[in-house]
Amino acid sequence: MGSPSQDVQEIEAGGHRVVLGRDSLRALDRALGKADATALFILGDVNTMRQCLPELLARVPHLRDARTLSVPGGEGSKDLAVCAGIWQHLANHAADRQALLVCLGGGVVTDLGGFVAGTYKRGIACVHVPTSLLGMVDASIGGKTGVDLGGVKNMVGVFHDPLGVYIHMPFLKSLGKRELLNGLAEMIKHGLVWDASHWEAIAASALHDIDALAPLVYRSAAIKAEVVQQDPRESGLRKVLNFGHTIGHGVEAHSWESPRRMLLHGEAVAIGMVCEAWLSWRMDLLDRESYDRITQLLLQLYKPYRFDSAENHRMIELMRNDKKNVSGQFRFTLLTAIGQAKVDVPVSAAQVQEALEHYRLLVRA
Ligand SMILES: NC(=O)c1ccc[n+]([C@@H]2O[C@H](COP(=O)([O-])OP(=O)(O)OC[C@H]3O[C@@H](n4cnc5c(N)ncnc54)[C@H](O)[C@@H]3O)[C@@H](O)[C@H]2O)c1
Ligand SMILES: [Zn+2]
Repeated sequence: MGSPSQDVQEIEAGGHRVVLGRDSLRALDRALGKADATALFILGDVNTMRQCLPELLARVPHLRDARTLSVPGGEGSKDLAVCAGIWQHLANHAADRQALLVCLGGGVVTDLGGFVAGTYKRGIACVHVPTSLLGMVDASIGGKTGVDLGGVKNMVGVFHDPLGVYIHMPFLKSLGKRELLNGLAEMIKHGLVWDASHWEAIAASALHDIDALAPLVYRSAAIKAEVVQQDPRESGLRKVLNFGHTIGHGVEAHSWESPRRMLLHGEAVAIGMVCEAWLSWRMDLLDRESYDRITQLLLQLYKPYRFDSAENHRMIELMRNDKKNVSGQFRFTLLTAIGQAKVDVPVSAAQVQEALEHYRLLVRA
């Protein structure tokens, strides 16, 4: 904990803590001082190394002699060949089991770096310094790490808790609007499944003001941490976080089949949330007014995704491939109110089809 004059808060998230507040990087510096690592390494991607590393080094003196390692930006870096390069780099610099890896980046860097740290010499310590909004409120929290294999996301991975996750809001200043909206979708989801007042606060906020965003980011990170704390190994409760994701994954995968219109994860989840809020209403779980408010906000923030009815089938097929849909049965997380979710609701393919068709007609040009 920081001294009372400092602006630092700590939250427990299963096997690790999340550190928030204006002085979070000072707390990181102190933690590194105590960690007594034999060597420090910083992993980032080309963008985060350019945009965020100078600030990190200026605020965290213990990192000034750290070795840096940069990977290309984007999902393509979540790859075993990239891991091999990093493992080799650590070995070339004689990193032993007391070495520590600082992951500076979005979800790609924390997933990749967490996995490398969790496996090098059977596990070395790491800390996460998320730099994207999605990283701050979602990907860096909870100890899930992994890389992709043969085009399948997160096929290979381990649970490896970082020593801590340190959230420093000013990093968001260099992030583009599209990436901010990408992370905002997960924040909206947090409000919808867990905390109605958080949803209200987001609905009333201005995204472009990073200072005004800080309390909302902290609340979302705290919600993710709270869910992880109650279900650290994803045995049940974490499923509440799947709201918007079953249809979202189908839409995301579909969009990647035509390079013209590839969606970011959060953009697809926003569409998934419209469809799944509608299903919640159709199945008498959610009132119409709540559904209308949810849809209105999402359609106002996110660009429409247009497709033909004939494409519904392909999206449903892609949903079936999702590892969360056991033996082809769809099990959804749906809403019973704004701020409250119900997990494992069985939904038929015909109902999914109806939900997609509903969205399609809503955004028809
Ligand atoms: N482990 C988990 O629990 C979990 C949860 C959700 C998502 N994820 C993973 O997270 C990944 C997506 O994360 P993401 O959206 O952060 O993607 P990302 O890491 O690719 O970051 C998005 C883009 O923003 C750039 N960027 C990041 N921070 C920046 C900054 N401050 N200034 C300028 N540019 C910056 C990156 O270089 C990249 O080009 C996916 O691979 C997903 O599987 C993991
Ligand atoms: Zn998500």
